Amino acid sequence: MAAGFPNLVPALMGLLLFLCVGPWAEGGKVLVVPMDGSHWLSMKEALQELHARGHQIVVVSPDVNLHIKREDFFTLMTYAISYTQDEFNDLLLAQASLAFEEVHFLKMFFKSIEILKTASFIFQTSCKELMYNKDLIGHLNASSFDVVLTDPVYPCGAILAKYLSLPAVFFLRSIPCDLDSESTQCPNPSSYIPRLLTMNSDHMTFLQRVKNMLYPLSLKYICHIIFTPYASLASELLQRDVSVVEVFSSASVWLFRGDFVMDYPRPVMPNMVFIGGINCANRKPLSQVCIGAYDVPSGTHFFPP
Ligand SMILES: *[C@@H]1O[C@H](CO)[C@@H](O)[C@H](O)[C@H]1NC(C)=O
Repeated sequence: MAAGFPNLVPALMGLLLFLCVGPWAEGGKVLVVPMDGSHWLSMKEALQELHARGHQIVVVSPDVNLHIKREDFFTLMTYAISYTQDEFNDLLLAQASLAFEEVHFLKMFFKSIEILKTASFIFQTSCKELMYNKDLIGHLNASSFDVVLTDPVYPCGAILAKYLSLPAVFFLRSIPCDLDSESTQCPNPSSYIPRLLTMNSDHMTFLQRVKNMLYPLSLKYICHIIFTPYASLASELLQRDVSVVEVFSSASVWLFRGDFVMDYPRPVMPNMVFIGGINCANRKPLSQVCIGAYDVPSGTHFFPP
């Protein structure tokens, strides 16, 4: 009994804290600028949970999109853009069909770059049309949100957060060209961290380390196509020179939908949090075909003895 008594003090403190905070804790107002496609499917799960915990959610999306549709756990605000659903669908089809084409590697590379350029242009246009939509921006500015939740692969949300002077929370699988490390000033040594597409492991020979340093150079070109126009847009809006890294460095927290089970360990900053388990939020039972493959009665012989 005497031994149990000291434990009572922290418990009472906890209860007091709960009573102080609990009844008056209010939900926040979250402005969401999502990336369309599969990225949105994971984000939707998180929004549903935020809504269940009493937060108010507004999602901003162009009226032409793939998956972002009305749901009862958020308010959807769409804005008009200058391309049609048909043009958007054609782009997606071109991208999908490329994966099944059997063409020479180089031809595939140039075709991919071409599609990437068109896709980037469409997203950049969409972002511009949001930022210059006076009514919508005025309304969002007047709504006094607490935070912007966004996937930085589509940097529009990060720019909007800066434009409205709101804190940003990033929710992402990954971002190319080590922009996350650069923006958070996180150590990122080429000699230890295997780079994207190199197939290197965390133990590299000298030549593999050279390869590890050269591969990111080619990706830089792709990142230039994807991200540089957003720096120009941010500079236009904020009326000063803004770099891509500055746009990303404004994030308060980076929530990575990854896990070191899948990716090689690397240094991280205190505001980088790994939430890979969220990808499994929507579990479904395995199909009968899958189960059948494993469901072998004991004593069964696959090969005749
Ligand atoms: C948002 O509102 C504030 C206060 O009215 C104003 O100073 C600011 O310029 C507005 N920002 C934008 C992006 O409209």
